[in-house]
Amino acid sequence: MKENVSVLIPEDKVAERISQLAEEISRDYAGKTVHLIGILKGSVFFVCELAKRLTIPVTMDFMSVSSYGSGTRSTGVVKLIKDLDDSIMDKDVLVVEDIIDSGHTLSYLLKNLQSRKPASIKLCTLLDKPDRRECEVYVDYQGFQIPDEFVIGYGLDYDQRYRNLPYIGVMHLEEE
Ligand code: PRP
Ligand code: MN
Ligand code: MG
Repeated sequence: MKENVSVLIPEDKVAERISQLAEEISRDYAGKTVHLIGILKGSVFFVCELAKRLTIPVTMDFMSVSSYGSGTRSTGVVKLIKDLDDSIMDKDVLVVEDIIDSGHTLSYLLKNLQSRKPASIKLCTLLDKPDRRECEVYVDYQGFQIPDEFVIGYGLDYDQRYRNLPYIGVMHLEEE
C-alpha cells in the first residue's frame, strides 16, 4: 500500500485553537491548580502545547492505554499499559486526549479515574469524531470536530509512525 498524506488542519490553525482552549481553561480554573493527565502516547504534543499556554498553576501526570493494534479501527478492548504516578484524590483533574473516536478509551478511563475520588474531572480533546461514537462521552473542551477519516500527526499515529507531523493530516492508503 502506498501511504499518501494530505493536510486537514495546518500547524498555525492548531496553535491558534490551542491558545483559545488554554484561555478558556485558565478562566474556568481560576484560583485552582489544574492537574493535567495526558493519555500516552497520542496526547503528548497537545498536552505540552496546552500546558505551556495555561496561566494558572499546573501539575501533570501521564497514563498509557491502548485500544488500537496496528490497524485503523478500535478493537473496543482497552489495555492499561502505564498507570499514573500520583494519587488524584481531591485534585481538579483535566484529562487531555488527542482524539475521541469510538469513545471506548475515554469511557473506560473516566470510570477508572472517577473511582479514585478526584475533586473534579473534565475532559479536553484536540479532535472529536462524533460520527464514530459507540460509547457516550461528554467532552468539556474540544479543539476541532472532524469528519470520519483516518487522521495522523500532532501525536496521532498510523502503525506508530507519523506522530511527529506538526499538522493534522489525513492518511490515504492506495494500492500500488
Ligand atoms: C488512540 C487515540 C485515543 C483513542 C481514541 O489511541 O490517541 O487515545 O485511540 O479512540 P477511541 O475513542 O475509539 O477509543 P491508541 O489506542 O491508538 O494509542 P496511542 O495514543 O498510543 O496511539
Ligand atoms: Mn491514545
Ligand atoms: Mg494509536
